[in-house]
Amino acid sequence: MTYQIAPLFCRPWTLLGITPRLIESHYENNYGGAFTRLNAISAELAALDPATAPAHVIRRLKQDEAAALNSLALHEVYFASLGADGRVVPPVMADALARDFGSVDRWRREFVALANSLDGDPGWVLLGWLPRAGRLINHCICDGSQAVAGAIPLLALDMYEHAYHLDFGANAVSYIATFMRNIDWRAVHGRYEDAVGVQPPRPLVQEQFGDLPSVTVAEVQAMLDAGVPVQIIDVRPRHSSSRSPDMMQAAVWRDPDRVEEWMSELSKTEPVVAFCVYGFHVGCQAVTALRKAGYDARYMAGGHFAWKAIKGPVKLFEATTPA
Ligand SMILES: [Fe+2]
Repeated sequence: MTYQIAPLFCRPWTLLGITPRLIESHYENNYGGAFTRLNAISAELAALDPATAPAHVIRRLKQDEAAALNSLALHEVYFASLGADGRVVPPVMADALARDFGSVDRWRREFVALANSLDGDPGWVLLGWLPRAGRLINHCICDGSQAVAGAIPLLALDMYEHAYHLDFGANAVSYIATFMRNIDWRAVHGRYEDAVGVQPPRPLVQEQFGDLPSVTVAEVQAMLDAGVPVQIIDVRPRHSSSRSPDMMQAAVWRDPDRVEEWMSELSKTEPVVAFCVYGFHVGCQAVTALRKAGYDARYMAGGHFAWKAIKGPVKLFEATTPA
């Protein structure tokens, strides 16, 4: 396949403090260069036999392909970020910045500080939308660091010397300030509207237990921190304790094969959280039985290992009912 080049998104003659000569050179030589490289790399990859190609060749080509793809995509957002006065932020965009950074001004200070922190080193400074977290994020790609996977770029600041040297010499600080005074917030807002329509990765679906209420480990931790009375039951099969000799500190262990025997010990007025090793069948089946009997029970998604993964407090495994 071949990639297509995009026309220049900004109108160079409208920019304040950035000359058309700089934009033209940037578009033609650097954006155009990335485009040419990308298609050359794609052709090389297509001609390659992956079964016989030396490992270092395929590795280098894929790294070069990623670099060229990022360069192409981010240059397009960079040019499309320019063209207005940088001041009037549409209300929806301003609200989103305030929600995720505290205020527009706080966002601006962080973004500029991040750009200045590169201290003349090449890289990209980006405002992106992260569907997985449902929030905006400032991040940079520099010093060989990677782009944040899944972050959709809304605003891009090119910190490679070729982006400013013609007009600003080595004065990156002045270039950054000038960039901020040329941001086209309406265009950024348009990209934001598109980005928020992107769904986060699908959560785990357990069709067999689709209607069964669950609770996350973070929610359980918050309940415990807040002192909410909650009955937490570890229903891992007994043999799993030999593989993982610890257990959630706030939990008691009960044999999942004897739910009917021990459920009468529980209070029906306080919520019950039950979990197994990974949060699949065993915990769900115990919760199903408890709910059938009238308990306000939910299973803890991710089970014992999700609790361990958030570094929730644990204790040595103790079996509190006879085997
Ligand atoms: Fe560039």
